[in-house]
Amino acid sequence: MTAEQTFRIACIPADGVGAEVVAAGRAVLDTVADRSAGRFALDWTEFPWGSAYHAEHGVMMPDDGLDRLRDFDAIYFGAVGWPTVPDHVSLWGLRLRICQGFDQWANVRPVTFLPGITGPLRAADDTELDWVVVRENSEGEYAGLGGRNLSARGPGGEVAVQSALFTEVGCERIFRFAFDLARTRARRKVSSVTKSNAQQYGMVLWDETFARVARDYPDVETESVLVDAMSAKFVLRPEELSVVVASNLHADILSDLGSALAGSLGLAASANLNPERRFPSMFEPVHGSAPDIAGRGVCNPVGAIGSAAMMLGHLGLPDEAKAINAAVEACTARGIRTRDVGGTAGTREVTEAVIAHLPGWTG
Ligand SMILES: NC(=O)c1ccc[n+]([C@@H]2O[C@H](COP(=O)([O-])OP(=O)(O)OC[C@H]3O[C@@H](n4cnc5c(N)ncnc54)[C@H](O)[C@@H]3O)[C@@H](O)[C@H]2O)c1
Repeated sequence: MTAEQTFRIACIPADGVGAEVVAAGRAVLDTVADRSAGRFALDWTEFPWGSAYHAEHGVMMPDDGLDRLRDFDAIYFGAVGWPTVPDHVSLWGLRLRICQGFDQWANVRPVTFLPGITGPLRAADDTELDWVVVRENSEGEYAGLGGRNLSARGPGGEVAVQSALFTEVGCERIFRFAFDLARTRARRKVSSVTKSNAQQYGMVLWDETFARVARDYPDVETESVLVDAMSAKFVLRPEELSVVVASNLHADILSDLGSALAGSLGLAASANLNPERRFPSMFEPVHGSAPDIAGRGVCNPVGAIGSAAMMLGHLGLPDEAKAINAAVEACTARGIRTRDVGGTAGTREVTEAVIAHLPGWTG
């Protein structure tokens, strides 16, 4: 049967548990496509880029890597980083190169609390919690600006400068994205994370732009919270959160805190979006390559499966995305969980259970 629409997906498992969780996400996606009765199909192309590729070729991806990815409908990514390659080389050589090269300026990271998984917050309180971190993904502290010099001064004499870049255009577009997202949610609220008390240039521009954009969204509640206070709020008053918008570094840290509070880093999904769709967007779990558990079949595939659902939503298949998330919830509620969230199941068992709970399949 010919599908009504075929999406071309570039798959980059990269390092460590990346390969395991991407295999899990692909198995779920392929099942959903098979069962779509011809509504859609996925045409996968896998790229072997990552730290093993670096060992062979001296680079994380080939020079023309971005050109080879450009015409895909989306990129499905695992995780990058391995002890054989310095982390800044592996991250900048692959993941950040794709994010920046394709202007994937909005990184959306939902903090999802799943039934049956007791996170540190749930143990004390069973308020319904659900918020999303929107990360400025193209500039800020990860703009890659700076340099090292003066090593000729001898041991201990070298200097390094790492500058953060805040542009009004970059701030405005991420705020508008956050406000538009807030309008789709039950609680219409945007919390901006700042550090303008200490960083009087970039973060003050951030705050002023936030206040200006907020005036165009009078129906959306706002607050501006220092990053130190926001980290406390994640723990102490998370029920007050809906959309949290933060700079590249702040959101990177806060989203890990959020997923840890939900129960595990292995649960968190994310989308690196080029909202104008000039380039493919990239979908990946928040977690890294987890060398400590890689290759043992025990890693949690839920973050990668949730990222797969976000990819389908982005491709215009929201019902299929919801079906995947519902299947994950059904599994966790029944206690089918990996050990990082208190279960005994392996990666494969959880994946098979999610597949078994997809519509039309019996559990
Ligand atoms: N997006 C990315 O590709 C990304 C993100 C973060 C870190 N990294 C890289 O990953 C490597 C390891 O970094 P790290 O140890 O700081 O972070 P990590 O996310 O890989 O691991 C942190 C902890 O979380 C656990 N964990 C992570 N994913 C899990 C999963 N799916 N299931 C169960 N447990 C899971 C790990 O076992 C570890 O104890 C480094 O090279 C780092 O640069 C890559």
